[in-house]
Formats: sequence, structure tokens, C-alpha cells
Amino acid sequence: MKGIILAGGSGTRLQPITLVISKQLLPVYDKPMIYYPLSVLMLAGITDIEIIATPEDLPRFRTLLGDGSSLGLCLSYAEQAKPRGLADAFLVSERHIGDDSVALVLGDNIFHGHGFIDILQTNSRDVDGCILFGYPVHDPQRYGVADIDADGNVVDLVEKPERPRSNLAVTGLYFYHNDVVALAKDLQPSVRGELEITDINRSFLAQNRARLVSLGRGFVWLDTGTHEALIEAGQYVEIMERRQGVRIACIEEIAFRMGYIDQESCHRLGRRLAKSPYGQYIMNVAAADRMPAFVPTNY
Ligand code: DAU
Repeated sequence: MKGIILAGGSGTRLQPITLVISKQLLPVYDKPMIYYPLSVLMLAGITDIEIIATPEDLPRFRTLLGDGSSLGLCLSYAEQAKPRGLADAFLVSERHIGDDSVALVLGDNIFHGHGFIDILQTNSRDVDGCILFGYPVHDPQRYGVADIDADGNVVDLVEKPERPRSNLAVTGLYFYHNDVVALAKDLQPSVRGELEITDINRSFLAQNRARLVSLGRGFVWLDTGTHEALIEAGQYVEIMERRQGVRIACIEEIAFRMGYIDQESCHRLGRRLAKSPYGQYIMNVAAADRMPAFVPTNY
């Protein structure tokens, strides 16, 4: 399965901080925002990943993450000159996707919760159609919303409904069969003038090929779309990390634990940042592996 991180857009709701820097490069506590969605794909076992960003921002993402080889990944980059909609990602990344299935994650979505690795790995296998991840929220009208029946089957999907039929938001993580590329090519822009991901998902639903996995209570899905949401996300990460002494979305640790890099390489990545607590943490992760220790199951 290939991966795509959609990290374009103009971040207008976060201006003026996004006037000269991409939203997805802003810090969420101790690391750039894009580390969070990147860690999701890595935990799913996906190593071949394309990052889509605006032509102005793309060089900065490249400077930050390079070709991915130091993390055992293969990273490529593609430009989206205008925010033509989330489904445009499949047209921009058509070559990258090739004949594979694909996971799309939005560059501003943060996921964290026990058992997430299992959820990711189980659902990314043999995707026929689309797999969506639902999360209960108090303000569903801000999101794509899924209406489900008593058995949890999706019966309808609506983008930002005025009167939502459920409180189940569709999060910014999607797994697709390769057919998504053909569907994106046939898609008409919405009244907003965008290629809507919800229209793609509705096409799969019409073919009875849409499935929703519920990320229930106790799971955390965070938004970073407003100044308040951004600081709250940072506070959540800070509290969790300080309390547990483990870091969330530390891509170097994940690369090591997933077996993408060895102990030596992990240590080297930490040494590069040795003056920061983040770098010291990575070096400790590499060193601690020699000792039997509690290994957390969520990152
Ligand atoms: O976060 C989950 C929600 O994301 C879903 O529930 C909705 O169904 C989905 O439409 C989307 O809603 P948003 O209102 O959050 O979409 P937004 O236009 O804000 O775009 C989400 C991110 O994707 C944003 O950080 C910018 C980036 N983006 C957006 C567009 C339209 C791009 O990189 N390119 C684009 O063309």
C-alpha cells in the first residue's frame, strides 16, 4: 500500500502565523505537525509515501524529511499549486500510487490511542473499496459525517451537513482500493469548486464498498484548524509525554520499533539533535532496547 500526506492549502484560519510558513510545519508541542500524520502511515506499515504541498512550501518539507532513507522510508514530493480539494490528491499522486492501494492522511490530523497500530494494520490489508475512520464529536457540522445503521454499516455520508444525522465525524485518514484514481478522474467539482473526498466516498458507498471503523471513546483525534485547537493539541501532547515519559509521533522511535532502521541508525538520528530533549529521548530509545523494558504499544 502507498501513502499520501496532503499538506497543502493556505492555512487561512491560522493567519498571521501561516503567512510565511505552512500550517503543517507549525509545532505541535515538541515536533512539527507533519510528524503526526507521518507516524500514522509508518505505524500502518507504509514506507512509500508522497507528500503533497504548495510549490512555496514543498522545499521546506524536503529539507525537513529528505528522501526518507534515514528513517528507512521512501519519501517523494508533489506540488499542488491550488487547493483543488482533498480528492485532487489522487490525481496529483497518480504516478506514485501506480497499481497499488493507497492510504491518504491529512497533514493536520492527529491520532493517538491504545490499539491504534492493530486497527491500522488490520484495516490496511486487502482494501476493497474504502475504509473510513469515524470519531464521535460534539460539532459534526464541521466535518464529513457518517450516518450508520444499528449494525454499524454506513448508510449515508454528507460533507458538513447543516443538520447532521449523527455525531460521527469522518476523520482525515482514508484507505482505498486502486479504483480511487479512476473515480477521482470522473469527479465533478462541488459547489465550493473542490474535488470533495466525501463524493469519492459516496461513490464507493453506492457500490456497497464503503466501510467505517469506529474510533471510540478513549481514543484521541485532534483538530489543529484554529488557534485554540492548535494550542490544545500541543497541551495534550505535552501532558501525555510528561506523564508517561514516552513521546507521541516520534518518527525516529517508530522507524526503530517498526524495524525500518537499526539501533545504530536510531542512535545516530538522536545524536544529530542531541542538544534537545527530543534528541536525547531518541538516543535513550536506542540504548534502552538493549535492556528488557516496557515497550508502549501506542506512539
Ligand atoms: O479533518 C477531517 C475533515 O477533513 C473531514 O471530516 C471532511 O470530510 C474533509 O472534507 C476535510 O474537511 P476540512 O474542512 O478539514 O477540509 P480542509 O479544506 O480544511 O482541508 C483539510 C486539510 O487539507 C488542510 O490542512 C489543508 C489541506 N488541503 C486542503 C485542500 C482543499 C490541501 O492540502 N489541498 C486541498 O486542495
